[in-house]
Amino acid sequence: MQDSFPPRACPFHDEVSVTEPGPMTRVTLLSGQEVWAASRHADVRAVLTDPAFSSDRANPGFPNPTGRRVAQDRRAKPSLIAMDPPEHGPARRAVLGEFTVKRLAALRPRIQQIVDDHLDRMLAIESRTADLVEALAQPVPSLVICEQLGVPYDDHEFFQSRSKTLLSRSAAVEDMRSSLDELRAYVDKLVSEKESAPTDDLIGRQIAKHRAEGTYDHEALVSLALLLLIAGHETTANMISIGTLALLRQPEQLALLMAGQDRTTGAVEELLRQFTIAEFVTSRVAVADTEIGGVTVKAGDGVLTLGNAANHDPAVFADPERLDVTRGGRNHIAFGYGAHQCLGQNLAREELRIVFDTLFTRVPTLRVDVPLSELPFKDDATIYGLHSLPVSW
Ligand code: HEM
Repeated sequence: MQDSFPPRACPFHDEVSVTEPGPMTRVTLLSGQEVWAASRHADVRAVLTDPAFSSDRANPGFPNPTGRRVAQDRRAKPSLIAMDPPEHGPARRAVLGEFTVKRLAALRPRIQQIVDDHLDRMLAIESRTADLVEALAQPVPSLVICEQLGVPYDDHEFFQSRSKTLLSRSAAVEDMRSSLDELRAYVDKLVSEKESAPTDDLIGRQIAKHRAEGTYDHEALVSLALLLLIAGHETTANMISIGTLALLRQPEQLALLMAGQDRTTGAVEELLRQFTIAEFVTSRVAVADTEIGGVTVKAGDGVLTLGNAANHDPAVFADPERLDVTRGGRNHIAFGYGAHQCLGQNLAREELRIVFDTLFTRVPTLRVDVPLSELPFKDDATIYGLHSLPVSW
């Protein structure tokens, strides 16, 4: 089965043929820019923990695969993911409290209810067929992050379509520009409303906290809320669809998952490792000469950290191509590594566990309706996944 599975996600696949871990190598991006590609687990972790590497997208050396990255408005503050020390640490700590184990435990019943409601609706379809992306994978994480942030879910079509354009590898640069501007204007207005009428949601609590500490900055909060809104639904949704497909195609793994004690925990980690859907976001630029994997990366050089190759490094994962839900361990780097490691990882894990557990328990006859070769994989996006997944039951 595994042989016929689609090639592993790599948003740089047009220009970077590095899908296996190997020595540090120079690659030329579609934009013509030459950068380093780190693909061994140890090299990727070294880059992501070395202060000689910056996350500043405005640095001209930062990898820009298509040459079409749209810059933020000059007034805009960089979002957390694009910050370096000394700004990054305090900015991250200020919002960390929103993602604690305690807060997530409180959120669990609501996530379960959202999943159940969507499955009720899907199972009520008379034809017993649906697009799983539309019925479940997209709306669940989207609704969860909207409720957490205090963003009206009724506007989801607006911000989902704009995020899709922003994360596309083929959209015209002017469309990406206007999508970013429209999204930013939308979040800006929302934050302003919450400034004058306090709300008990992440944005509202951040306003109150920073005002009390005398550190409130409207533009910084707009950048953070925008990042969370995009990251919160574009990532987990793809893991739901591609994870469901992988489990349906490997029924022995699905059976192991269903038989396991703590059913979905290991499976979720393994699916995250296997697909590493967001390796694009962990790119860096060197700000000082430094040695990685035996080569000198010069200040100003861009570095792609190919998390997907690294997560298939046989030095770390035995028989890495095999999906093995009993593999155990969290030493994959699907959520990145080091200071910028995914802030929403525990929320994503919780959503994925609840979705897989509930979906395969409630719909044991679930099957994919079209051959693999006809499935629309997101080869055109910076975050891998599926545009749609036709299923029946
Ligand atoms: C399966 C789902 C997800 C995957 C695979 C994923 C992946 C990643 C990765 C690889 C990074 C590291 C970026 C870097 O090193 O520069 C990251 C950072 C981040 N993620 Fe996620 N993510 C997921 C879900 C989420 C969710 C649900 C949220 C929000 C609620 C979120 C919010 C963030 C934020 C805010 C950062 C930046 C953290 C920082 O720079 O300190 N992510 N994510």
